[in-house]
Amino acid sequence: MDAVLPSVVPQPVAARLTRAAIFLVVTLEPGLEAENAARKLFGNLSGLLRAVGFRDLEGGLSCVLGIGSDAWDRLFGAPRPKDLHPFREIRGSHHAVATPGDLLFHIRATRMDLCFELAAQIMSRLAGFVVTEDEVHGFSYFDDRDLIGFVDGTENPVDAAAVAATIIGGEDPDFAGGSYVIVQKYLHDLLAWNRVPVAEQERIIGREKLSDIELDDAAKPTYAHNVLTSIEENGEPLEILRDNMPFGDIGKGEFGTYFIGYARSPRRIETMLENMFIGRPPGNYDRLLDFSRAVTGTLFFVPTASFLDAVTPDAGPAPAAAPSAAENEPSHSSPRRDGSLGIGSLRKGAPHE
Ligand code: HEM
Repeated sequence: MDAVLPSVVPQPVAARLTRAAIFLVVTLEPGLEAENAARKLFGNLSGLLRAVGFRDLEGGLSCVLGIGSDAWDRLFGAPRPKDLHPFREIRGSHHAVATPGDLLFHIRATRMDLCFELAAQIMSRLAGFVVTEDEVHGFSYFDDRDLIGFVDGTENPVDAAAVAATIIGGEDPDFAGGSYVIVQKYLHDLLAWNRVPVAEQERIIGREKLSDIELDDAAKPTYAHNVLTSIEENGEPLEILRDNMPFGDIGKGEFGTYFIGYARSPRRIETMLENMFIGRPPGNYDRLLDFSRAVTGTLFFVPTASFLDAVTPDAGPAPAAAPSAAENEPSHSSPRRDGSLGIGSLRKGAPHE
């Protein structure tokens, strides 16, 4: 992190992987009423989370709210996060579709009932004002494997590295403490995948299937998933934080991975996607995509929890900054408009660090 600053608390982006999650993507109906309902919910979200989460403190309930580009303009206007834009579809060897979404709720806990209850409480406050675009209930599968049988999440950054990968700093001072998130819902052709010999599956992913050990660089093809998603700038790796979850519907023959990636700049995730879908170099694409189809794709900005706490229903574009919070009450501080980074108190106040 690039500076020491007071009084902004991020949302729990870097929370540890959990056993259960709900991914809820909704679009806002037209009109002021819908906008007011959304803003009212934002201001109440931390209270709702405390109320539901307190029913089982061991359950580790958390919720990250993301806001899409169009919704940001409707709800807050200027200033806007500098890298916020609608998800850009990619047409290469495979197609990364762009699909609608104004709000994302990424709800995590050790128990699905906690996730379910919070999602229900959230949606009851938005009833009539939103259309549900997608709802996925994810579960943890054996040793954190995805449904193609590989352990997923191993190379994720943790602790300070996770914060450094995901939390905006001095590059966008008005929105320091925020983050970006891209979600994509993938459906696997498991019959075809399971016909691929395990040794080739391992080359496609770049790791051993049973042991999860990374293949030697010499043994990895240039199209291996972990080669194409490894990117760097000036010799430094550019990391993202993933919290993929398996989901499915046996009766419908649906087996999926819900991809969710957080980063301090969406460009990191977009570069990985270009490498996967177009190829690096073009044509050298990710063979995982021959068996996994992206059926959604949406980009959101994740404001700080402090920003959300300060939103009022009729705040209109650009909610005014509330008076500064006391140093020892970081979770009630306001969106900063003073040009400072506002991330020093993360260490003190952020529950996920
Ligand atoms: C069908 C969807 C996907 C599946 C099943 C999948 C699965 C995996 C697996 C099994 C690994 C190796 C274990 C690990 O380090 O986590 C991995 C690594 C990784 N994946 Fe994915 N992934 C998917 C989509 C994506 C997408 C869309 C991105 C980014 C845009 C991505 C980025 C990464 C990164 C950055 C790594 C770590 C690479 C490294 O440093 O070794 N993945 N993924």
